[in-house]
Amino acid sequence: TAKYAVFGNPIAQSKSPFIHGDFAKQTGQDISYQAIFAEVDAFPEALAEFWQQGGVGANVTAPFKQQAFELSDELSELAKLSGAVNTLIRLDNGRVRGDNTDGVGLVTDLEAHFGELNGRSVLLVGAGGAARGCIKPLLDAGAQIVICNRTHAKAQSLAELFADYGEVKAVAIDDLADNAGYDIVINSTSAGLAGGLIALPSSIIGKQTHCYDMTYSAEQTVFNQWAQQAGAKKVADGLGMLVGQAAQSFYLWRAVKPDVSVTMAKLRELLS
Ligand code: ATR
Repeated sequence: TAKYAVFGNPIAQSKSPFIHGDFAKQTGQDISYQAIFAEVDAFPEALAEFWQQGGVGANVTAPFKQQAFELSDELSELAKLSGAVNTLIRLDNGRVRGDNTDGVGLVTDLEAHFGELNGRSVLLVGAGGAARGCIKPLLDAGAQIVICNRTHAKAQSLAELFADYGEVKAVAIDDLADNAGYDIVINSTSAGLAGGLIALPSSIIGKQTHCYDMTYSAEQTVFNQWAQQAGAKKVADGLGMLVGQAAQSFYLWRAVKPDVSVTMAKLRELLS
C-alpha cells in the first residue's frame, strides 16, 4: 500500500482523504491517504516524519504551501512561478519534487462548466497566492487576463511577473467599470469567506458573463449570489477546482486519471 497524506492547519475539514479514497476505488489503486494536522511552526518536522515512515507523496494546504515550496529539493516550472507547492512527490532517489496542481484544477473545471478558454477575456479578482497559482495555466489555455485587487500594487506585480507568458494586465478597481462585459469573472479573494465582499461594479457582468468562485459551500457563495443578481449567465463554485487539483495530483503520483465528475457528485451530496 502506497502511503499518501495531506498536511494543513486546520485539517479536520479537509475533503482530500474522501476524494483520493474515491479516486483509488475508481481506479483500483492500492493507496492509503490520511489527513495530518501540523502545528504552525512544525510543518518541516511533521513532513520529515512522514517521509521516514514511508510516505511517497503528499498534498499541502493552508498555511503550508509556501513552506512546501521552500522544502522541495526540486520544483516544476509551475511551482516555481506559483511560489507555492500543493503536491509533493517522493522520487525514487529520495529527493522531493514540488508541484502545483491548483491552476490545472481550475482550468479543467472552468472548461467543464463554461467551455473552451481560448480567446476568452478573464477578470481575475484578487492577487494573493490562489490567484498567482492559476495565472500561467489560464494563459496556457489561451485566456486573456485582467487582474484587479484591493491592493492595486499586488495586481501590478503579478501582471509583470507573468507578462512573458501571455496577455495579462492589472486594472484598478475604480477603472473596472470602463472595461465592461468580461467573458469570465473569477473570485480568488478570501473576502467571500468572511461574508464581506469586495465592491465590484455590476457593469463588469454582461449577458454572456460566466462567474466562478474559487471557494465553495453548500449554499450559493456570497460572490456567486452577487454575480447572479448582477445578471451573470452562469455561475459555478470551487468544488470542481478542489476535485480537479486532486485529480492532477493523483495523476502525478499514480499515472492514472480518475473520473472527476463521479467524485464531484458524491462530494456535492456530502456537502448538502
Ligand atoms: P490566498 O492564498 O487565498 O490567495 P492571500 O494570499 O492572503 O490568500 O490573498 C488574499 C486575497 O484576498 C488578496 O487578493 C486580498 O487582497 P489584498 O491583496 O488587498 O490584501 C484579498 N482580500 C482578502 N480580504 C479582502 C477583503 N475584505 N476585501 C477585498 N479583498 C480581500
